[in-house]
Amino acid sequence: MTSERDRVRGTQCEGVFPPPRRSFLRAALASGIGLSLLPAAFAEEEKPGSDVRPQPGDRFVFAEGDREGELIAPADIPEGGPPIQAWPIDPKTKVVRDGSRLNQVLLLRFKPDDLDDDTRSRSADGVVVYSAICAHMGCPVTGWIEDQGMQVLKCFCHNSEYDPRREAQVVFGPAPRRLAALPVKIVDGALVAASKFIGSVVPQQQG
Ligand code: FES
Repeated sequence: MTSERDRVRGTQCEGVFPPPRRSFLRAALASGIGLSLLPAAFAEEEKPGSDVRPQPGDRFVFAEGDREGELIAPADIPEGGPPIQAWPIDPKTKVVRDGSRLNQVLLLRFKPDDLDDDTRSRSADGVVVYSAICAHMGCPVTGWIEDQGMQVLKCFCHNSEYDPRREAQVVFGPAPRRLAALPVKIVDGALVAASKFIGSVVPQQQG
């Protein structure tokens, strides 16, 4: 099946649940290293709210690439994929919720008529948002595969595939359930979380 794929985007999984940078911070503090000697990034991760799950009203920023950290507008999301890796951001405090890898999300845009009813009800102008954490063992979902008119999100750890037009249901592989969905809406032209995650972002097994 996979050998038939005509286009694959994404990177191989580099491991399940790598130690969060937050653990480094705690270890550094325990060993007596002063906060002033730590990179600013580590101190930033301690901002209140960075590890809180996405909240209604959150916006989104690019998680990687040339525009990392910039706000994402609906027009930035290419129709038909590939997905954009993103973090939620609290628009009031400007805190990016990157203190937990379970907060990372995938933004995609399709023609609304191509979405099933439940998926469309959680979308805004065809934009859908899902957890970027595989429901199997928690690897990041980084692949985007197009094959004979079908497009799926793929986790390379054990090859689970999810259909983003149908609630990110599992269409291949060992994942036991779909990806968690984050309903969105458009407010004054901005893409905004409409509620908390629907479904769990905690994988079935961890490492
Ligand atoms: S962790 Fe994704 S398929 Fe196993």
